[in-house]
Amino acid sequence: MSDNAVAARKVSAAQAPSLRRRLLTILAIPMALAWLASGALIYVLALHYVNINYDRSLADSARALERMIRSDAGLRELSPQARILMEYDSSDPSYYAVRSLHHGMLASNLELPVPDSVPALTAPPQLDSLKLGGRSLRMASLAIAGADANDTIILSVAETLHERHALARDILVGALPIVLVLIALVLVLVWFGVSRGLRLLDPLADQIAARRARDLSPLDQSVVPVEIRPLTQTIDALFARLRELLDLQERFIADAAHQLRTPLAGLRLQAERALADPRPESVRDALIHVERLSAGAGRAAGQLLALARAQTSNENDSPDCVVDLARLTRDYIGERVPGALATHVDLGYEGPTQGAEVSGDAVMLREALVNLIDNALNYAGENGTVTVSITNEVHTIALAVEDSGAGVAQEWWPRMGERFFRPPGSRRGGSGLGLAIVRRIADRHGAVVVFDRGRDGLGLRVTLRFSALARAETQSQRSSRV
Ligand SMILES: Nc1ncnc2c1ncn2[C@@H]1O[C@H](COP(=O)(O)OP(=O)(O)O)[C@@H](O)[C@H]1O
Ligand SMILES: [Mg+2]
Repeated sequence: MSDNAVAARKVSAAQAPSLRRRLLTILAIPMALAWLASGALIYVLALHYVNINYDRSLADSARALERMIRSDAGLRELSPQARILMEYDSSDPSYYAVRSLHHGMLASNLELPVPDSVPALTAPPQLDSLKLGGRSLRMASLAIAGADANDTIILSVAETLHERHALARDILVGALPIVLVLIALVLVLVWFGVSRGLRLLDPLADQIAARRARDLSPLDQSVVPVEIRPLTQTIDALFARLRELLDLQERFIADAAHQLRTPLAGLRLQAERALADPRPESVRDALIHVERLSAGAGRAAGQLLALARAQTSNENDSPDCVVDLARLTRDYIGERVPGALATHVDLGYEGPTQGAEVSGDAVMLREALVNLIDNALNYAGENGTVTVSITNEVHTIALAVEDSGAGVAQEWWPRMGERFFRPPGSRRGGSGLGLAIVRRIADRHGAVVVFDRGRDGLGLRVTLRFSALARAETQSQRSSRV
């Protein structure tokens, strides 16, 4: 292999679609989003539980303040121990306020407001969120009876939210890498899962590898994963087409052998005859036979090739064109008239001069016409007439070739068009392939072939009925004989 070819192969392998790469790219964005969403969720949850715990300890602080105040008989002053306890906090400053509803603030390290709803005397600490001087605070308050009758003392303890958020952030920072590792693990599993999953294809590969070259039977679908079925069905369809093609090829070889054996045997016989009897007149007679046999063999070979071409062609090979059947027929008849006159046959055309449009392949349509006109001229008989006509109806265009010869008995009509079929007693030389070619070309154009008698019950009429193109309009329907 040349360096270029090696390089080309490498490039194409790198560019080849990959299931793994495809799956990973499809999963990448959702996985990244899932990672972000799980981060947000973890933070919200962590904050929720952190809040519950911090609220509980804030309420405990409020109760501790209450106990200290109850033990300080004066109620107007906090003992120094109590002050230290309340104010000491390494990271998050705590605030407190002791306020009498009658006498105002008794002690505080921050002007904490009275809660919106004054707590009841025996109620557990009441928790409020508030903003004070641009800071967000959480405050626990409870009420105790004052020294004066009817006075109430509100004890409040508050703290900022910094610690809570910091703790929730710590939990998030701890959890995110774990989630990331889990996601990476999923992607790795996908990577290996694809390899393992693809092993499901091994039995199919084995099945195909074990086939003999000519085995084009459908694949055993029982080992094929359902996802791959569309692919194997396409392969089966390809096998079917290949089978058809191989059959055609085999048939062509058999037909060719069949066609050539007889004239070759004849040629050999004539050669032997000439060698055995060297008199000029018998050599000449042998040569006449040789000439006829070789012409026949040449024609047969041409017919075989035409049939093979017509059989292997399908709609995909040559794009269909709009073919004006009237023009094609008229032009071709123009070419054949001199030859027909020389053999005393009156060849004529009846129908529109143009505008009988069908969709198809002009070369093939001409080939069909050649075979029909060959037959008609061949079998029209001395001083016969051959008429080719085109009738352009709304939906169909009929091309008919008829002659005034002996025709073919009706019992043989159904078999006309079979390869090598010639009605018993066919006189003139021929291969029996002409009508097979016509039939095949008609099939290819969606046309039907109809046999019947010619005008006045004479001869044979072969009609090809095409469906007209929608836009083909009946133009000049003038009948003219050229
Ligand atoms: N117009 C015709 N008139 C009479 N017989 C015909 C006509 N066309 C075809 N046939 C018969 O049908 C046979 C098959 O025709 P064809 O397939 O063209 O093969 P070939 O012409 O090579 O014999 C011919 O041998 C002939 O007997
Ligand atoms: Mg013929």
